[in-house]
Amino acid sequence: MATNVERDEATGTETTGHEWDGIKELNTPLPKWWVWVFYATIVWSIAYWIAMPAWPTGGSGTDDYTKGVLGYSQRNVVAEQLTEARTKQAQYIDAIAAADLEQIAADDELLRFSLAGGAAAFGDNCAACHGSGAQGFKGYPNLNDDAWIWGGTLEDIHTTLLYGIRWDEFDDTRFNDMPAYGDGILTPEEIDLVADYVLSLSGQAELSDAQFKEAAEIYAIQCAACHGDEGEGITELGAPNLRDSIWLYGGDKADIVETITHSRAGVMPGWVDRLDPVTIKQLAVYVHSLGGGQ
Ligand code: HEC
Ligand code: HEC
Repeated sequence: MATNVERDEATGTETTGHEWDGIKELNTPLPKWWVWVFYATIVWSIAYWIAMPAWPTGGSGTDDYTKGVLGYSQRNVVAEQLTEARTKQAQYIDAIAAADLEQIAADDELLRFSLAGGAAAFGDNCAACHGSGAQGFKGYPNLNDDAWIWGGTLEDIHTTLLYGIRWDEFDDTRFNDMPAYGDGILTPEEIDLVADYVLSLSGQAELSDAQFKEAAEIYAIQCAACHGDEGEGITELGAPNLRDSIWLYGGDKADIVETITHSRAGVMPGWVDRLDPVTIKQLAVYVHSLGGGQ
């Protein structure tokens, strides 16, 4: 070969000896830098096979690959990260257990941790009744607004969560029963009248002076003790505001007549025996943050 090396006249580069239609192929050498990088990758790969987990060996379980002399394992890395995360969580959980609700809400880190935990626990335990966005349904209150049946402070919400509402299992449950006025307390005509009166409190019905006088009298005797003289509601008694156009059981006249005739008595479970104290605190902080916390 060396004897009949042919060089291209223009460039001085060797040819390969291949020729097509008088055009000869040049045997241009690879750039030096490229060749060195290529050798380096070979050296690197051999060093890597020796140092790190690399080749399958067909064994069983976790013994089916070469381990490498450095003993690196992603399994171990994940395990370490998990332990680290758990230790960090445990710090927060201990801190939340020791803090009162106001302290949790005032501490940026505890607040963030509680909101995340509260949101997850809400999805698991509460969304079925209150909706995934806590928007509520008929009979299940919206928790985003600032209308509270039983009070919207952190403490109020926490108490509601611990013992529930009309939840027989706990003596401390929130409890108040509106009478079913259809059971002989008021006549259907009186119920109709007082329903219009309730609607008139939010400007949705008009009564003549005579009707208004009669209805206001019924209201003062029968309803004001729970719902307040002006229909403003009393949270200690769980009696909703009747003036705010926010209706738990619907705001049509028929809905209101139904509520007054039969009463409703919504039930919510207590959580003190189902969720741990830290989760309940997280939930209280989360619900309080939804928009209408007082
Ligand atoms: C089985 C259905 C149900 C589940 C589950 C449920 N709730 Fe309720 N919740 C209700 C009902 C019904 C009411 C309204 C009771 C009433 O008439 O006063 C209520 C009321 C509330 C109130 C009081 C609202 C106010 O205006 O005072 C809060 C706060 C609340 N729920 C939060 C939660 C949280 C947090 C969870 C999850 C841990 C949850 N609820 C799970 C049915 C439920
Ligand atoms: C003993 C206390 C009590 C008395 C008296 C009472 N209520 Fe109520 N009322 C409640 C409670 C508690 C609720 C909430 C029921 C529930 O959440 O299930 C309620 C709910 C309502 C609602 C439904 C509100 C909504 O958002 O859907 C209306 C309307 C209402 N009452 C009207 C009346 C009228 C009218 C009277 C008098 C004729 C009256 N109530 C007397 C305690 C009372």
